[in-house]
Amino acid sequence: MKILAIESSCDDTGAAVVENGRAVLSNAVASQIPEHVLYGGVVPEIASRRHCESISAVCRQALRDAGLTLGQVDAIAVTNAPGLIGALLVGVNFAKGLSFSSGKPLIPVHHLRGHVASNYISSPELEPPFLSLVVSGGHTHLIEVTDYTRYRVLGRTRDDAAGEAMDKAARVLGFPYPGGLNMDRACREGDAFAYRFPKPRVDGAPLDFSFSGMKTAVINLVHQKTQKGEPVAAADIGASFMRAVADVLCEKTQAALESTGLKTLAAAGGVSANSVLRRELARLCKKRNVRLCLPELRYCGDNAAMIGAEAYYEYLAGNVADLNLNASATMDIDKLVTI
Ligand code: KG4
Ligand code: ZN
Repeated sequence: MKILAIESSCDDTGAAVVENGRAVLSNAVASQIPEHVLYGGVVPEIASRRHCESISAVCRQALRDAGLTLGQVDAIAVTNAPGLIGALLVGVNFAKGLSFSSGKPLIPVHHLRGHVASNYISSPELEPPFLSLVVSGGHTHLIEVTDYTRYRVLGRTRDDAAGEAMDKAARVLGFPYPGGLNMDRACREGDAFAYRFPKPRVDGAPLDFSFSGMKTAVINLVHQKTQKGEPVAAADIGASFMRAVADVLCEKTQAALESTGLKTLAAAGGVSANSVLRRELARLCKKRNVRLCLPELRYCGDNAAMIGAEAYYEYLAGNVADLNLNASATMDIDKLVTI
């Protein structure tokens, strides 16, 4: 089954053709980085407008790269939640138009389910059940993936997402947007033990995260140094901050592995591209004899291929929408996606 998938939940306009949830036949993307870099972050209104301008060409590109016409794909899939509402609506309405005009089924896909499914592409033998650490710009979740469309959220952030904290740290340290990626690249040679950051715990919820205190700590550190006229060792602070975030993520992941007894871990989301986190997760899994799946770097951040991968399993589970499908800025991963 070949699915044309569309992803427009944030700042990338993506379209891909994926066969049977695992084989990526094409994966096209129109990046908006040059425009948002001017503002140091994603401007939602600009993102929506750019999606409108690019979506038609990106879909055509995905079909062309796959060597297919619209008539030759079996279904249309689209991210309908969660994300920037204006951005999501562009993808959802375009997908509805394609579905209506081609007569193909319309499959709504939850964005985080898509991130989890990026591992089905990069680790083709992966099957549920497994534990997933989903770390993106908007979410930080520990999820027991009990089946392809069944999830149990074990822990989540109470405030900021890991990616949000990375971006804020990057910004205060002077790394340009996209902050997390640029900080990762620039801090490889930094001393990761030069600074200590608080590692918050959430009372009574050992698998929940909190990153706002760490974020404030790095902002305060940089401001104090600037006020005193001291040099800001950005590479050392960045490296120490990334280590602290990776430590917290690994500690909770280890606790979740222990409490569930699961022997497979699949990381996902933009922050799973982080070099420190990838290294620390590999160390943790080796020590505990747990199989680790990491998405290839191109499938960590937002992309349409992961939406096409999950869409296959949503279709098999009967999760197909009609033309009343709407987008939603928020939605829990364990809720049925059709609105
Ligand atoms: O999954 P994603 O592309 O979009 C959301 O669904 O939010 O994740 C974006 C987040 C951003 O916060 C970005 O800074 C972070 O992922 N990110 C990274 C790296 N690459 C992307 N954070 C740390 N290190 C990276 N290499
Ligand atoms: Zn994402």
